Amino acid sequence: MDTFSEGKMNLNQCFVSEETENQEDKMMKKVLSIILAMMMVLFAAAAFAAPATLASVKEKGELVIATSPDFPPFETLSGDGSVTGIEMELAAKIAEKMGVKLTVEQVNFDSILLGVMNGSYDVGISGFSVTEERKKNVLFTDPYCMAAQAIVVVEGSPIATKADLEGKLISVQAGTTGELYCLQNGYNVESYSSNTDAQMAVQNGTVDAWVIDDLTAAEMVKANNEKGGKKLVVLSEAMTAEPYAFAFAKESGDLVEAINGYVDEMVADGTVAAIFEKYDAPYTSPDAVK
Ligand code: ARG
Repeated sequence: MDTFSEGKMNLNQCFVSEETENQEDKMMKKVLSIILAMMMVLFAAAAFAAPATLASVKEKGELVIATSPDFPPFETLSGDGSVTGIEMELAAKIAEKMGVKLTVEQVNFDSILLGVMNGSYDVGISGFSVTEERKKNVLFTDPYCMAAQAIVVVEGSPIATKADLEGKLISVQAGTTGELYCLQNGYNVESYSSNTDAQMAVQNGTVDAWVIDDLTAAEMVKANNEKGGKKLVVLSEAMTAEPYAFAFAKESGDLVEAINGYVDEMVADGTVAAIFEKYDAPYTSPDAVK
């Protein structure tokens, strides 16, 4: 109201230069104080959501992980709404070793790393492949397993090898290494925010093939084929080989160091291999490529 009436006065007095200056001064001061107040709010918000450190996690007594639970056997949504899978077991073990409680946030895959970087989550645990590109923005723990990008088609498809994909349309999950690989290698790509939709696209013929991590491919194709309907096939030729690790903000160095101790220990003492076995998933140790 105040500002509005001042504005009116300005209009009426626009030829009275001194008065106008005074009014402008006042206006300027108001604008500056509003900007200052907004900056303070922004600073407060930023301080609130600072990326995790070892001390901050211990202090709040909680490790907050972000995951996209459309990725069996690593993370899937169970009937009661909780997330289960290999990585959830690993995360639970890490939280236990740290003596903190585990909180699981369900997030679209392509928003996880941003949320980790701005401090909304302490760590991204979602089948993350370690890449040089991602390393520019986040820190990775030591890898705990090896995976690959596999090609999935409908039974009877003319596509039998990677070479047959030329000129074909491929479904991928947005923000994944599968998407990046296909784009960088000149394939035609249709990106979906959930893996389930990417699978649906190959199933109903919207695309010719689906590129997806190998263990998830095996699991989702098996579940699909058991349900009946159009059968899917995983081709034996893979596109890439990629290590999986957990992703942290650049500021979380001491936390990564602490968690590396647990990851290395669980790889070395067979804990990781045993969890894979529990989920009937073939395990390839990261040492296989070291
Ligand atoms: N390994 C791939 C990547 O890092 C795909 C991971 C997808 N994860 C998921 N939970 N949907 O990009």
